[in-house]
Amino acid sequence: MHNRFIVIHLTLHNFRIELDVKIICRCEDVTEEEIVKKIHEGYRTMDDIKRILRVTMGLCQGKGCRKHIAKIISRELGIPMKEIVQPTYRPPTKPIPISATFENTNKRVPSVQH
Ligand code: FES
Repeated sequence: MHNRFIVIHLTLHNFRIELDVKIICRCEDVTEEEIVKKIHEGYRTMDDIKRILRVTMGLCQGKGCRKHIAKIISRELGIPMKEIVQPTYRPPTKPIPISATFENTNKRVPSVQH
């Protein structure tokens, strides 16, 4: 499990609580702090970050986080955005029940023998 960095600011006068956590990859629940930490540990490319934190591997396949991760790498390493190599896109997949593969056929779903 990845370490979590949560900064809590307490303002005692009005009892306001702010959580200073920036989620970059919502599908895989990865924060900016985790990405920055991995970059400084030596994971310096999009593929490195993808493999170690599973970013861009969620249900949206990186539509929600690729650009943000590239910006973080660019900022942290001083590399121009156009030089950040994006990982390959995969077609979207979604789990389906096995019975869906037998729809519109006369076949029955085979039962598993124990
Ligand atoms: S937001 Fe990162 S994979 Fe969906």
